[in-house]
Amino acid sequence: MTLNMDSNTTDKIELDSVKCILSTTDLKGNIKYSNRYFSEVSGYSKEELHGSPHSIIRHPDMPKVMFKLMWDRLKKNENIIVIVKNKAKDGRYYWVKTFFETKYHPITKEPYGYLSIRHAAPKKAIREVEPLYKRLRSIEARQGLDASQDYLIRYLMKEGKTYDEYLNEITEEKNIIIDFFKKQIH
Ligand SMILES: Cc1cc2nc3c(=O)[nH]c(=O)nc-3n(C[C@H](O)[C@H](O)[C@H](O)COP(=O)(O)O)c2cc1C
Repeated sequence: MTLNMDSNTTDKIELDSVKCILSTTDLKGNIKYSNRYFSEVSGYSKEELHGSPHSIIRHPDMPKVMFKLMWDRLKKNENIIVIVKNKAKDGRYYWVKTFFETKYHPITKEPYGYLSIRHAAPKKAIREVEPLYKRLRSIEARQGLDASQDYLIRYLMKEGKTYDEYLNEITEEKNIIIDFFKKQIH
């Protein structure tokens, strides 16, 4: 009997609820550090990840506007959390709640890179963002990034929330794990 070991590219990777996927990048988003769980989940070795742009795990279902929002916030020295769908080397996907932060040199105070900490996205958050991201992707394909950004702004206005309030509501968790890992890395 032969077993077919090929992964179905539409398969979801189930993440360990207590493990985190960590990475740091330079100012251009090239990976400088990744932890072991990053390699385990993505299927890329440390050697493959280091020096590669972080878009190596970009999933085509992710709207551009979410990365624009993330970069805009980081450049303003504002942390941000984004629910991200990522793509492993074998094509499978996994949803993560990702915390992004800019790193500053302790003496010169100049930004030198970024830190990201991910753990399994809560089911409620995935249910919420999946249709929203689909809509944003389709607007981007037809009308471009500005139209997608306008839609996102109007969506949040209709909800009566800032982006951060919206995120807090759909994730409904305290960031205990993030706080813990930030302390380990500093
Ligand atoms: C610290 C850090 C972590 C990132 N993590 C991811 C990630 O997990 N998945 C992803 O698709 N992009 C991630 N990005 C964003 C990518 O650099 C890139 O902006 C995004 O994948 C969009 O790529 P594109 O502009 O080539 O489409 C990260 C960026 C930084 C600075």
